[in-house]
Amino acid sequence: MHVLRDRGFVHPVSSEITPRAAYLDRRRWLAWAGSAAATALPGSVAAQGAQSPQARPGKGAALAAARSSVAGALVMDKATPYKDATTYNNFYEFGTDKADPSQHAHTLKTRPWTVAIEGEVKKPGTYDLDTLLKLAPQEERIYRLRCVEGWSMVIPWIGYSLSELIKRVEPTGNAKFVQFVTLADRKQMPGLTSSVLDWPYVEGLRLDEAMHPLTLLSFGMYGEVLPNQNGAPLRLVVPWKYGFKSGKSLVKIRFVDKQPKTSWELAAPSEYGFYSNVNPKVDHPRWSQASERRIGEDGLFAKKRPTLMFNGYEPQVGQLYAGMDLRRQF
Ligand code: MTE
Repeated sequence: MHVLRDRGFVHPVSSEITPRAAYLDRRRWLAWAGSAAATALPGSVAAQGAQSPQARPGKGAALAAARSSVAGALVMDKATPYKDATTYNNFYEFGTDKADPSQHAHTLKTRPWTVAIEGEVKKPGTYDLDTLLKLAPQEERIYRLRCVEGWSMVIPWIGYSLSELIKRVEPTGNAKFVQFVTLADRKQMPGLTSSVLDWPYVEGLRLDEAMHPLTLLSFGMYGEVLPNQNGAPLRLVVPWKYGFKSGKSLVKIRFVDKQPKTSWELAAPSEYGFYSNVNPKVDHPRWSQASERRIGEDGLFAKKRPTLMFNGYEPQVGQLYAGMDLRRQF
């Protein structure tokens, strides 16, 4: 995907990669089941199978969730098959091939897990996973996710608005941006031996973007807790931005006064801007962003779909960027 010639790294084209079945570590699921899990609520979209291809498709611990009422949170597109969503992944800490995370992420230990809240907040501290899971009601949201490589998926996520957490830690007047730091542990993550990125993987949002109700702190998908390869035990999902803004396996959230540098900006500043809003009119230097291939619908004659401004979330988020030159601030 993100071919970084200056670092001597060339990613294989996706057609060379054979997706493999997700590796499901039964003991990990059972550990979850004993603590975090509950049976899916009858109102859950996944439980009803309304959009999800299957309820509890990975046979993991169910995560209760009610259908979200946030505007724009339930797109009507058909959900990507669970198998594709869990075997075609970008999670460079486990390797750069699409099949690497599903093969290698079983080494990720998702309990105990804590997230440190730092910087410009009145209530900094360390939250453990159980506290975070219960901080706000879990909701199911069906989001499009568009990768800068030119493919997209539709995934029924479970989580709640990041704003729920932000409100509780009370940002000070100096907090203008939020930095997200993800786990970097060589013992658990074989991909860290690669110099493709400077670790840890770091991303960022402007405070108002982070506060937007669509910005999701996610703990699950398809009615279950997140599989490791999708960013267990918790990740961000920002549906109107390219997928790389949605950091997986978060360990630190830092409130800062200046725009933070992100891992991708540091690796290739001419290719990855801070905003990274999905924009069909602004091509990546090496890839057109005008259309996309929907994973799971990619037969030989499958038509590409036109990419929508802000990935189709313009009615909800367009006003955040009023007056900005989106070509310059890409
Ligand atoms: N988070 C971490 N920590 N490491 C990564 O390599 N890849 C990003 C993002 N979050 C990545 C990450 C990219 S490029 C994409 S497209 C999405 O995760 C993919 O999420 P998915 O595999 O759940 O579809």
